[in-house]
Amino acid sequence: MRVVILGSGRGSNAAAILEAQHAGRLGRARVVQIIADKPEAKILELGARFGVPAAFVDPAPFKTKLEGEGEARFIAAVRDANADLVVLAGFMRVLKPGFLNAFAGKIINLHPSLLPSFPGLDGIGQAFRRGVKITGCTVHGVTAEVDGGPILNQMAVRIEPFDTLESLAEKIHAAEHALLPAVIAGLSERV
Ligand code: GAR
Repeated sequence: MRVVILGSGRGSNAAAILEAQHAGRLGRARVVQIIADKPEAKILELGARFGVPAAFVDPAPFKTKLEGEGEARFIAAVRDANADLVVLAGFMRVLKPGFLNAFAGKIINLHPSLLPSFPGLDGIGQAFRRGVKITGCTVHGVTAEVDGGPILNQMAVRIEPFDTLESLAEKIHAAEHALLPAVIAGLSERV
């Protein structure tokens, strides 16, 4: 199963996927391409570290969504990589029907809350400020509804009285790093 990872930032989840692959914990999946929508994104540095092609693809003209010419460039890049699965790992842009239809049923997203609670931006901060005692992370199929597609798996994280926003974020990222590679491995065994 050929996996293309899309990201915008740090890339800690992409690193977790690649580490799982190297440790033989990614099932029949292998990462064939990393794509970022920001030229300075740290996720692009993983290419050299793990020997995987990594490229910036220009998402212009829009700032928060992928549509128009930028969308066409992303569709072409993912097609060129012959992707069986597109993994959104911190890709901070809303996908539109052009991209969604081009890879229908093949796109998954990672979100840092137990959906359907706290969708959208800053899922960790939303849960922390609301004072819930249990939050976590979700991997779901991507549809036109933002953070609304079918839930594939979740991992719960308890918010303790002594947790700060920073300590909670650390716990959620640790859960994400376990959950996302496991979901990809599971999907790969079904191909
Ligand atoms: C992750 O926490 C992921 O859940 C979140 O961005 C972070 C990316 O971290 N995604 C979203 O909020 C999507 N709405 P990373 O770049 O270190 O993998």
